[in-house]
Order: sequence, then C-alpha cells, then structure tokens
Amino acid sequence: AEIIIVPDEAAGGALVADEIVRLITATPDAVLGLATGSTPVPVYAALRERIGGVDVSRVRGFALDEYVGIDPAHPESYRSVITREVVEPLGLDPALIRTPNGALEGIAHAGDDYEAAITAAGGIDLQILGIGTDGHIGFNEPGSSFASLTRVKTLTQQTREDNARFFDSIDDVPLHCITQGLGTIMRARHLVLLAFGEGKAEALAGAVEGPVSASLPGSAIQLHPHVTVVVDEPGAARLA
Ligand code: F6R
Repeated sequence: AEIIIVPDEAAGGALVADEIVRLITATPDAVLGLATGSTPVPVYAALRERIGGVDVSRVRGFALDEYVGIDPAHPESYRSVITREVVEPLGLDPALIRTPNGALEGIAHAGDDYEAAITAAGGIDLQILGIGTDGHIGFNEPGSSFASLTRVKTLTQQTREDNARFFDSIDDVPLHCITQGLGTIMRARHLVLLAFGEGKAEALAGAVEGPVSASLPGSAIQLHPHVTVVVDEPGAARLA
C-alpha cells in the first residue's frame, strides 16, 4: 500500500478529492464506492469545492452499507446520509447512486441484488473506506470471511456504541446492517482507506502492518494490489 501521512483531516480530504476529480474527468461514468460515518466527511467537503467545472451527470455510486430495518427516510439511514452529504451537495444523479436495501421486506435477496447491481455497473473504480476501532471495514466485523459478499450482519456492541452519537440513545441504533462483504470490497479497483485520530491508530496499524487475519478485517487490504492509505499523525502513531 501507499501510505500518505497528512497534517490534518482537511489535507487528507483534499488529497482524496483531487484523486476522485482526476478519475471522474478521465472516466465520466466512474463508479465510486461511498463510505459514511465521520471519516469521509472532509473528502466530500473538499470534493464540493472542486467539482464545479466537472461533469458529474454520469457518475455512479454504491454505498458500503445500510442499517437493516431503519426507515430510509430516517435522517441517520445511510440512504439519507449519502443523499444529504454526497448526492445533493455534489449534484449527483440520485438514480445512479445506490445503497443496499435494508428494508425487512426482501432482505433475503437484498445482498444478491446489490452484488448484481455492482457487477452490472462494471465494478467499483474507487472505494472510499474508513476503519472501525475494532478493525472493521464496511460493517465486516472481526471474524468476517475474506470471501464474503453483500449480506446481513449483526453489529457488535462496540460499533453500536461508536455509532450511538448519531442517534438519541444506543437503544435506537439498529442491531443489524447489510454491508458489502470483504470480497466485494476487494474487487474494487482502487481502495482508499482513511483514518484520522488516535482512536484509529491501533486498528490502522493492524490493517496495514499486522498479520492478515479475519480478526482484523481491515488487514484484508494487504492482499489488494492498489491501496492508498491516508492517515493523520495521531492515526499513524502506531505504525512501525
Ligand atoms: C461506513 C462504514 C464503516 C466506517 C467505520 C468508521 O460506511 O462502512 O466501516 O467507515 O465505522 O466510522 P467513522 O468514520 O465514523 O469513524
């Protein structure tokens, strides 16, 4: 992996946004893999400043994950988050941006449907990734198979605690999610993993340098041929 240590989140966001603008300029129907959570916020903010003259009308996107059983109109559904933070500010065509379908009805085939849609799009060109404090990418918690595809998973207590800040209380954080699998993520042509802050230092070091192991799902990136890791100084503190 190429590891880039940046002075702060804004610099990291700018660097990744520049890469995405290059991609879209060269490939106007590029397929982006979109993460939610706090980490990619500076990427989307920097993109907003740069996207003015770029034709984004054909850009396609696939979110990494969604909560299961959440009303899509709930402000913290990942559909809502992607709409609010990515689609609307960047002027993307909402019909070309997909999130896994977390509705209970049809959940049994929602993963397969999502995989089929990604395949039909020709695969993901650039996948933005954050990492959980427990080493998850997407919502592939420790123990996830490296071959896994989009499927329903149970959120760990740690992840529900980490995400409780987006809800009124931890009891409101859904118990399940539907997430791209590690196998899905590994098929993307370029992985861009961002990590900011000391809280991510241990997981980031494990992902980049630790043994490749299902107990730290982010370590799967070591098996991918084209990875860029963007990390600030506190996030890089545990790298050798
Ligand atoms: C989000 C996702 C998660 C987050 C991770 C880090 O779509 O798939 O893997 O990237 O939980 O979350 P933040 O960025 O909020 O620290």
